[in-house]
Amino acid sequence: MMKLFCVLAAGVMLTTIQPARGGEAPREKLLMDSGWKFHLGNEWGSGEGPINLGVSTGPARPNFNDRSWTTIDLPHDWAVGLPFDRNAPGDHGYKPIGPRFPDNDVGWYRRTFTLTAEDAGKRIWIEFGGVYRDSLVYVNNCLVGRQPRGYSSFRYDITDVVNYGAKNTIAVRVDASKFEGWFYEGAGIYRHVWLVKTSPLAVAPDGTFVYSRFENNVPQGPAEIVIETRLANDQTNAAEAEVDCDVVDAGGKTVAASRATATVAAASEQDVKQKASVASPALWSPETPRLYKLVTTIQSGGKVVDQTETEFGIRTLAFDADKGFLLNGKPYEVKGTCNHQDHAGVGSALPDALQYFRIAKLKEMGDNALRTSHNEPTEELLEACDHLGMLVMDESRVFASDAQDLELLENQVRRDRSHASVFLWSLGNEEPMQNTPVSARVARTMQTLVHQLDPSRSATYAASVGNEFRGANSVTDVRGWNYHTGSVMEQYHAAHPQQPNIGSETASTQTTRGIYTRDRARGYQSAYDVAGTETAEYWWSYYATRPWLTGGFAWTGFDYRGENSWPCVNAHYGIMDTCGFPKDNYYYYQSWWSDKTVLHLMPHWNWAGKEGTNIDVRCFSNCGEVELFLNGVSLGRKTMPPNSHLQWMVPYAPGTLLARGYKDGQPVAEEKVETTGPAASVKLTPDRATINPDGEDASVITVAVNDAQGRLVPVANNLVNFEISGGGKIIGVGNGDPSCHEPDVYVDEATAGGARQVALNDWHLKMVPDTKDRPELAESFSDADWDRVDVNAESGPLRPNTCAVFRTHVKVNSEDIAGDPVLQIGMIDDEGWVYVNGQLAGDSHDYQTSPSFNVAKLLHAGDNVIAVAVHNVDGEGGVNKGASLSIQGKAASGNSNWKRSAFNGLAQIIVQAGKTPGEIRLTARSEGLAESTVVITAAGHAPRAAAPQ
Ligand code: GAL
Repeated sequence: MMKLFCVLAAGVMLTTIQPARGGEAPREKLLMDSGWKFHLGNEWGSGEGPINLGVSTGPARPNFNDRSWTTIDLPHDWAVGLPFDRNAPGDHGYKPIGPRFPDNDVGWYRRTFTLTAEDAGKRIWIEFGGVYRDSLVYVNNCLVGRQPRGYSSFRYDITDVVNYGAKNTIAVRVDASKFEGWFYEGAGIYRHVWLVKTSPLAVAPDGTFVYSRFENNVPQGPAEIVIETRLANDQTNAAEAEVDCDVVDAGGKTVAASRATATVAAASEQDVKQKASVASPALWSPETPRLYKLVTTIQSGGKVVDQTETEFGIRTLAFDADKGFLLNGKPYEVKGTCNHQDHAGVGSALPDALQYFRIAKLKEMGDNALRTSHNEPTEELLEACDHLGMLVMDESRVFASDAQDLELLENQVRRDRSHASVFLWSLGNEEPMQNTPVSARVARTMQTLVHQLDPSRSATYAASVGNEFRGANSVTDVRGWNYHTGSVMEQYHAAHPQQPNIGSETASTQTTRGIYTRDRARGYQSAYDVAGTETAEYWWSYYATRPWLTGGFAWTGFDYRGENSWPCVNAHYGIMDTCGFPKDNYYYYQSWWSDKTVLHLMPHWNWAGKEGTNIDVRCFSNCGEVELFLNGVSLGRKTMPPNSHLQWMVPYAPGTLLARGYKDGQPVAEEKVETTGPAASVKLTPDRATINPDGEDASVITVAVNDAQGRLVPVANNLVNFEISGGGKIIGVGNGDPSCHEPDVYVDEATAGGARQVALNDWHLKMVPDTKDRPELAESFSDADWDRVDVNAESGPLRPNTCAVFRTHVKVNSEDIAGDPVLQIGMIDDEGWVYVNGQLAGDSHDYQTSPSFNVAKLLHAGDNVIAVAVHNVDGEGGVNKGASLSIQGKAASGNSNWKRSAFNGLAQIIVQAGKTPGEIRLTARSEGLAESTVVITAAGHAPRAAAPQ
């Protein structure tokens, strides 16, 4: 453990500083997302004990044969690919994972990476953005760390255990058998993995903190930029360091700079504090997400030894008990949503592009804030919020003050505290002990730590209690309210006039997109917003008129898996569905949250059979007045009450329902819903028609079922098949139907690069005097009366200095033989000779290796005999830890088996770019409908620098 020293180095304004010379800095951050092998199963246990004894046959061993494993890229969530199972936990989305599904709980990942000889002397880190959960990470068979929590990012210093100028192997065991929340959480390495190389004197991981200050917190005149840099010296001698900090604006101009020097003791870390000043800063806000970059250059001995870049925003944040939240000195109403990280098709493994897609959808609604309920966010989500303009309430999964959890909280704050978007920390949510003295003490300890690490922000706790001033609420800077909208808040505010308030969680409306009546059989809720804790209008009209409440976070922006009962596999709380298709409530919020002119009519106008029946027609709009027409006949003009909606009861007649919106007496908008014809065509519309050929970027494609006139058929549920060609791949499909049990993911074994594994478990044994030229090895020898032996037992059956022949049979066909079969034996203890149909395939003289043999030439179609002559030298021995034949699938057959039914006219398909520029062609076909093809162009930036395999 390194010692930590802290010095305050005088901030020096330097106008003559040279621009940073990035090319000289040896820091490399290499993406490790592609080329992993994955296996679902717990055959090898944790691998820990045997490794310490040096006899592991598990996947942590560099020479372990993972050929039969599936080839995958990160981010990866194996739970989303599992079939729905009504016996699985509903709160986790009916995926068969968790305590009752041990076969699906443990996954292993393996990848190689190569370091150059010149890397010797550098410090090497492996960084994980997030693994759900309980991960063990091995590098070259050395256990380098364990992270039980599923939402923390973490990293390990692997400098000591890597091979320089050679290949290295990383193996990660992930155990998702336990839950941390009461919602779908995914399983696996669901974020990026990075290999980071630095010089031995460098900025420590998450070692930069930068924020702005103004005199009296009034954002006028120059901004003071406060910079804290943690330097890490991994050398055995002290080092002199010069820390050059340049503040660079969006146009690339250096607008402030500071230089400090420090001596960093051997094997130590040291904090360096600096200040700089930006004369007339461009302020960050959700409406103007202007960012600056802090470029930190570390020099030592006249050489640049490190350089990092940290984006940040200049703005002021404050909470006032009467005026609510103040952004840049002005009251700023929080129009927020809570969200889990979960999207149709991909589960918790969102490509970065999807983070941007989701934030953009929320912003379009007028949403300006997001709560990362109920856990630490993925870092790329924060980047999307910084860039697109979205405030973030950054929440901890665990409400606890034990040493380990405080360390995780510290990591969270250190990682996230320079982000422009983060405006408030949340210590926890609705803990059973929230009203107790224990929770007051836990909250105080957590909040004190947060304040020490980040003097620029306040903390809250999402409390589901009423007006009691007890527990966490009696401690936190800002009182967080989960529900309880109404007079209870007024009472609390009157009794505690000094404490600011925020609606940490509101609404919990339950609606299903395009459904206008409760359907118990399918579990659908009506889009008229009648089944929630609070309606959208109820909570918002209350908050909107009380500035001291600051605004709040609706539960939730998007639907998410879990928290529901069969047949529903996802919750209905979203303002949008799991794909991001708006439900009608979206337009309620958009009317009162955005500055767009909004005019929206509900429901659709396809009510064949209901002619003459009154239909409840509602209009969401921010127009002052709205007039409604059915087939050209006015049904009256009404004045819109603020923060509300309008309603007409309209006897149904097919045709056109049209709304005209007026502002100040002038018509400003028209909106119509029409009775459509039957489904006639499929239409594909990508959110982005050009994506980067970087292997990561993704286009989110809307699949619409239209009538002959190109109008969306709001009741169409046609099954649509997809075919993709060119350089991309499909990574997920969805339709927002909460009760749809069609797969999110279609795995094509061949395209996944995997091989079929045929377990060889039925072995027979005969003791023999020696291993040379034994007749028992011949194909024709009969083993019918031999004893059966369990080769998966804890230890082998042979006593010291004995020999035996082990035999098994396997049937293959000519296609299997074409699949280049490899015979793999977990362990031959101590030495053995392996025969296939009487011919020697190879031998093994090290009980620690898992030998494998190419046997295509030795097999024939039909029954085959595998025989192993074993000599056990000492201890217990024999063929042990099982054996298998791995058979490669047929050549890639194309990404053509994906399909999805539309739900109320819509479905979604997510296409990810490959690594070569060109065209990606996606075709959608549905029986009886005209097909549609969309071309996505893969052009733009190349893949990020990646760790070579
Ligand atoms: C809240 C809880 C959320 C979600 C919601 C559903 O009490 O904080 O996580 O469960 O209820 O209404």
